[in-house]
Amino acid sequence: MKVGVLVSGRGSNLQALIDAMEQGKLGASIVFVISDREDALAIKRCENHRIPYAVVRRKDFKDKVEFEKRMVDLLRERDVELVVLAGFMRVLSSVFLSAFPHKVINIHPSLIPAFQGVRAQKQAVEYGVLISGCSVHFVTEELDNGPVIIQACVPLLPHDDEESLSQRILSYEHRVLPQAVRWIAEGRVKLEGRRVRVEGAKY
Ligand code: GRF
Repeated sequence: MKVGVLVSGRGSNLQALIDAMEQGKLGASIVFVISDREDALAIKRCENHRIPYAVVRRKDFKDKVEFEKRMVDLLRERDVELVVLAGFMRVLSSVFLSAFPHKVINIHPSLIPAFQGVRAQKQAVEYGVLISGCSVHFVTEELDNGPVIIQACVPLLPHDDEESLSQRILSYEHRVLPQAVRWIAEGRVKLEGRRVRVEGAKY
């Protein structure tokens, strides 16, 4: 399965996908990466691993529709079948999502539907929950919501701040995101209304 990845920053989740691919554990190929920022560290990772990429900046387009259409065109040119949002800091509209129906997934650093939006880890610390985590979900027009494919629970410890919790959650993000891509590439992820069933998964 050909995978396209959208990024905005550090790209550690992109790196986890690249590492899984290089180890033959992804069951899919990352054929193209789009960054909406030219200074994203994720771009360096593409260069290091010879993965084709493009920088597509919102400000270079007259509106969001044109911006999203450009990304769709680039991904379609490479026959991308699955789009992974890995730290992509923009909300996609139906212009983009309808081009890849049920084929856009996102990683979010909370157990959704808790703590949607930005700085989910800070929200969790401030709320005082004892367990948070991360979620990979299908992207819908709702922000950080949509059918959940896989989640990992991560405990909050008494001394945690946003930074320490983010680090702990991140190490789980790097495990669940490649896992979700692999399941989808294997054709095992079935969407039944709002619920996701993974065929052959041991529950
Ligand atoms: C991750 O915490 C991800 O869950 C969130 O943005 C962050 C991106 O980190 N959506 P990175 O760019 O993958 O290192």
